[in-house]
Amino acid sequence: MKQNYTQYCHKRIFVFILVLMMSGILIQDTDSVDSTNFKKCSQSSFCQRQRSYKPETSPYAANFDSLRTPKEGQVSIDILNTKNNQPFVLDFYALEDGMFNVKINEANPLHPRYIVPDTILDVNSQKFVVSTDSAKRIVNLQLAENPNIKITLTCSPLRLDVFDDDEPVFSLNSRHLLNIEHLRQKPVQKPKEPDSPPPPPEENEEGKSPENEESEEQADAQEEVVEEPVVEEKAEEEKEDEDDIDGMWEETFKTHQDNKPRGPESIGLDTSFINFAHVYGVPEHADHLSLRSTVGSEPYRLYNLDVFEYELDSTAALYGSIPFMIGHNGKRTVGMLWLNSAETWVDVDSSEDNKGVLGTVFGYFAGQETVPEVNVHWISESGIIDVYFTMGPTPADVMRQYTKLTGTSYFPPMWASAYHQCRWNYKDEDDVRTVDQGFDEHDIPYDCLWLDIEHTDGKRYFTWDSHKFPNPVEMQNALAARGRKMVTIIDPHIKVDSNYHIYSDAQAKDFFVKDRNGAEFKGWCWSGDSSYLDFTKPEVREWWASRFSPEIYKGSTPNLFTWNDMNEPSVFNGPEMTMHKDCKHAGGWEHRHVHNLYGRYQVVATVDGQLARSDHKERTFVLTRAFFAGSQRYGAIWTGDNAAEWGHIEFSVPMILTVGLCGIAHAGADVGGFFKNVDGELITRWYQAGAYQPFFRAHGHIDTTRREPWLFEEKYRDAMRSAVRARYELLPYWYTLFYQSHTTGEPPMRPLWYEFPKDRSLFAHDKSYMVGRALLVQPVVAAGVTYSSVYLPGNSGWYDTTTYQSYPSPNTVSVSTPLTNIAVFQRGGTIVPRKLRVRRCSSLMTHDPYTLHVALDHQGRAEGELFMDDGHTYEYKNGKYNYKKLVFENKVLSSRSLNSTALWETNSWLERVVIMGISKPSSVQLETEGRLTTLGFTFDPNKRLLTIRKPAVKMQKDWTITLS
Ligand code: NOJ
Repeated sequence: MKQNYTQYCHKRIFVFILVLMMSGILIQDTDSVDSTNFKKCSQSSFCQRQRSYKPETSPYAANFDSLRTPKEGQVSIDILNTKNNQPFVLDFYALEDGMFNVKINEANPLHPRYIVPDTILDVNSQKFVVSTDSAKRIVNLQLAENPNIKITLTCSPLRLDVFDDDEPVFSLNSRHLLNIEHLRQKPVQKPKEPDSPPPPPEENEEGKSPENEESEEQADAQEEVVEEPVVEEKAEEEKEDEDDIDGMWEETFKTHQDNKPRGPESIGLDTSFINFAHVYGVPEHADHLSLRSTVGSEPYRLYNLDVFEYELDSTAALYGSIPFMIGHNGKRTVGMLWLNSAETWVDVDSSEDNKGVLGTVFGYFAGQETVPEVNVHWISESGIIDVYFTMGPTPADVMRQYTKLTGTSYFPPMWASAYHQCRWNYKDEDDVRTVDQGFDEHDIPYDCLWLDIEHTDGKRYFTWDSHKFPNPVEMQNALAARGRKMVTIIDPHIKVDSNYHIYSDAQAKDFFVKDRNGAEFKGWCWSGDSSYLDFTKPEVREWWASRFSPEIYKGSTPNLFTWNDMNEPSVFNGPEMTMHKDCKHAGGWEHRHVHNLYGRYQVVATVDGQLARSDHKERTFVLTRAFFAGSQRYGAIWTGDNAAEWGHIEFSVPMILTVGLCGIAHAGADVGGFFKNVDGELITRWYQAGAYQPFFRAHGHIDTTRREPWLFEEKYRDAMRSAVRARYELLPYWYTLFYQSHTTGEPPMRPLWYEFPKDRSLFAHDKSYMVGRALLVQPVVAAGVTYSSVYLPGNSGWYDTTTYQSYPSPNTVSVSTPLTNIAVFQRGGTIVPRKLRVRRCSSLMTHDPYTLHVALDHQGRAEGELFMDDGHTYEYKNGKYNYKKLVFENKVLSSRSLNSTALWETNSWLERVVIMGISKPSSVQLETEGRLTTLGFTFDPNKRLLTIRKPAVKMQKDWTITLS
């Protein structure tokens, strides 16, 4: 058996190497990605065209007289590209909560242009107050309910300026980079130089070129619109040249040809953030929090890709894409969503030279010689200009607004917010049993054990390897009996095998993505020759969801949850390891249009499957590698295949912070690092960091040595245990933060500037971060560290959570961070709920008693919240929860229900209250339901620390504790 397994592994490795060789991706001697396998902007023809587009003045002009209000909250105006006479329509939509949307589409496109579906939720509209200045040909729009927000449209050249309280905030097309490539007929091939060979015919299998398939009426309509006085006459020849630039109709990268039946359709626009020096967002990149200036280097790229051993400190594309950008200055925070699911490049120019160019031109900011600005150039391969603005003005306002548009986070079940144990792979049922027991033997809690691709029958998802996992139901039930869960991996590539029910059924139903010729697209992935489900089709999603019923997913139980990996999608032998852009999806759309949406659609279907399985009673859990705007509604993400290197712990912080600012609350990085063997010190520091990041999962590559905590020396094992236990103690706090993300959009893990928005020294800071409003965490990201220098912002003071030592602020302090702990501080003015009786998993702690950590500010005040429910169902939606506001002021600690009636029954009681920064009281009294009880306490005068013992009041009740 062992022999067979080894042979099997060798075969697997051989196939893998073969696949990599086929795809041109050879494992390098060097440690990191071979970046030549991925495109630079200059190798992507549309990026190159748009990036080199630099007209002196914009040819786009609005027709002032065409201004109209088609319906309440919508204002429209016609636009003309005066250079080539192409007509467009610009629409403004006024939205609730200070938001608005700007769309520019072709007036009469040859074919419909792609508009991203299923992303923006139903948001309420509001009215515009419209005024015009006909002499200057300017249109002014004001949001009726947010009159501080105004938009000015200057007709010629077209320019939009957005003001808040009469200060310019955004400016669009002020750099003249608006450039929409209109859809067009393919030009007739010009004869080439006499000595060059004749070009191949541009025909598909039916002998028709795709553009000829369009109706002649459409083409005529396109011709008809050329009737504006301001048009520059163009010589026919010049026009043809414009239509026939290299790469517009086909291009090649490495060995892959991309045919573009629709021709060029890219879009570009400049948006300036005025009076901002820092912008954030547009994940996913292994980069710092504050976006860099990309002038003279590569733009940030948004194109979901499976990147083998990705580089740090880079603007290169990774697994997920969220085209949302936030600007923050000492006065306000704003955001803009560039809604586009095609390949997108984002140039950021925050260079010093930008100072004052736009701000002072307006004559605003009187008294200031210059104001900074960040000029952003958005470039996408297709689609329409579709930009949503969230005007803040606080970070929390932007998060609320953005998540009104794209949805708040799903509410993870309690167990999913705890610690997860994963590895590629836990080999068999014995292995699962031994690892499970190992945690108990070593007194380390964990909630969920994960199975990677090797658990399946030959990478056929929804199946089990019958030798290694002969009794999957019993295995899951054994975990469930101990309060634990299991996750299995289910990727979107489906093994081509007519005896595999998922494949044959999907094939019979015509559910796979098609290649450019309309045949079933086949690519290589883990399962060898594979087809890819077209998750953009609602019927496919419905069918996929039904695969999760236990009758179809044999061996699954309600205790089994899902990991959707490789869903960029990863295609080992495809261009840049992904699907060819000219593949075909539902509705005739090409893969290029929907690429960044693909992974999200798979997750939607998986979530639906889990919901159906429990009749919509149980909360779902899905981890996905690919993501897009709105993915937060469905599950968690992780940062993919990192490596066991110190730099990867360091960059996990800005990467998770950035997705958090873009709505994704539940995110983490592989603890321990995916590639490479990890040593005791590195993995210990990683557990300490991961314990304070939203999604906390250890994971490692199949070729790494085993790394369960007890396999390391005692000092490391002990420190890892403490880190995991610290996570479990804080679960009530994390869970409350997840509930708040779910209801308000605020990320649980936040940049320091989010909580201290006026402190400019924090705008580019990503060494430490906040968990909620209360905890500041600074992971150790280098070997041999025993002290950490930590900046404590604000002026309400901080308390070291290990020693209770208090520190005034703002202040930089040096704290001891030996192998046993990292720097974690509680902010003065906050209350953090904990459970100190850590058990083997979170479900056993549901009704355990609470400890409150009350850290007083200089006014002797503190506040916090606590959310409690059953931890796994949707019953909270029926009011079955307790949400408490905890306030300490005037020496009284009170707990009051934020929901009108406490409907979730729990015997959880208050075990202890620890108050930091207080003087000794003479007595302490509890009052609840009219009854008074005197409580015992201890006091440490050196630390000014009061510990109130056993108030023993039920947490679901309202109560007060009075010190006198
Ligand atoms: C790639 C994923 O990123 C990794 O986490 C996983 O272990 C492998 N695929 C195998 O499924």
